[in-house]
Amino acid sequence: MEIKVVQNGDVPVEVLVIGKFEGEKTNTELVNEYVVEKDGFEGKFGQTYLIHTLGKMNADKILVVGLGKREEFDHNKLREVVAKSVKKLNQIKAEKALFDFDINVDYGKSAVIGAMIADYAYDKYKSQKAHHLKEISFTKFSQKDVEEGKIFGEAMKFTRDLANTPAQIATPAKLAQIAQEIEGVETKIYDKEEIERMGMGAYLAVGQGSVNPPKFIHMKYTGLNPKKRIAIIGKGICFDSGGLDLKPASSMLTMKDDMSGAACVLGVMQALAKLKPDVEVNGIIAACENMPSGSSYKPGDILTAKNGKTIEVDNTDAEGRLTLADALCYACELNVDEVIDIATLTGACMVALGTVASGIMGNCEELIRKLIDTAKDSGETYWQMPMFKEYFDSLKSDIADMKNTGSRYGGASAAGLFLQEFVDEKTKWAHIDIAGTAFLEKPQKEFIAGATGAGVRTLLNYIIK
Ligand code: BES
Ligand code: MG
Ligand code: ZN
Repeated sequence: MEIKVVQNGDVPVEVLVIGKFEGEKTNTELVNEYVVEKDGFEGKFGQTYLIHTLGKMNADKILVVGLGKREEFDHNKLREVVAKSVKKLNQIKAEKALFDFDINVDYGKSAVIGAMIADYAYDKYKSQKAHHLKEISFTKFSQKDVEEGKIFGEAMKFTRDLANTPAQIATPAKLAQIAQEIEGVETKIYDKEEIERMGMGAYLAVGQGSVNPPKFIHMKYTGLNPKKRIAIIGKGICFDSGGLDLKPASSMLTMKDDMSGAACVLGVMQALAKLKPDVEVNGIIAACENMPSGSSYKPGDILTAKNGKTIEVDNTDAEGRLTLADALCYACELNVDEVIDIATLTGACMVALGTVASGIMGNCEELIRKLIDTAKDSGETYWQMPMFKEYFDSLKSDIADMKNTGSRYGGASAAGLFLQEFVDEKTKWAHIDIAGTAFLEKPQKEFIAGATGAGVRTLLNYIIK
């Protein structure tokens, strides 16, 4: 889909998309007469109405969309409404559309992101491909805002494609290859022997049951005058079968998505080279598969992480935190200012927050607050989960420094406290649990079922700000 900015809305076009605020007229007489007055279209948020102009106007068809109350309208609402329109336009198999909304703020970035979210389909393996609009244009927005929107939209698509890719293809080696192909970043891949030499005993244990070897990925983007040094870590379990503590079939079904954090980090890194912010960003992924086999790690095993702390394996399905433990140690050793990890970490977080919000925790209230605010502004929702120290009681072990899991209760928070054991005190750290938000089993708002690109918009906006 090509996306353009045009000066004038009154040009020949297949479909003209206009908005209507509640209680206001539109700037198109035909619509006011037939749609508003005769048919009583109110313009409630998200309502749509399609008319054929029968040659009475420059456009063959007009799609009228409800914008709700003007005083409640903002860039997030515009994103939703553009997404809804694009879905409708694809349904009627339109090829070209022109959006001419009566608003005087530059919401170009949100409009483009909305359009690109809605135009997304994962149909690589279907004979019958989805219909895509060929071209959409917007009036009133600046080229700069629209270009930034495209970079964000492409980053989300990149991440969604990768997280939707079956585990038979998206292996640790494949993630490593993708990382190496990203332009504008320096990438180092560590193989199994090097991972052993680095002392990442927790991460290695998780991957040891699979025939596909682990790959530790470190990408580095350096802006022209870096004002800050950040590390972003994505959970990269390419498939989570649960290991010897095998998951039931129904829970395993979507576990190709257990590298959604990694896919987010890769999507963000490939966008940074285009956005060129003045920061240093280290993208880190400890990629592996959690599989049951004769060489798998076992319940009761004791693992030693990179910082020397020992972990008794209570459940091999709590594998994400083991891989993140070593990745967090590695990131802290880089002496960066901030570390942010993003992970499909706990079913408990999904039970608590559903598919609506991602959980966030960490050791720095200011960083958590900034990320929550940035998420809201980006069209995502983050919700802070508590880190009461009592949650750690369930992780106490008689024979090691800690267990990897304990109680059924407070699981998202316990996982957060576990991770904190691998973050040094000098480093500001936030942990984002996207177990519920990264992959939808059914459509939700602008999204079709499948991967959502959770975290991409928020992390990009956070970094460029
Ligand atoms: N990858 C899962 C978490 C998950 C669940 C992600 C649902 C997306 C949707 C994680 O590795 C896991 O298996 N967690 C266990 C932890 C338990 C054994 C303490 C869980 O949540 O059941
Ligand atoms: Mg698991
Ligand atoms: Zn997992």
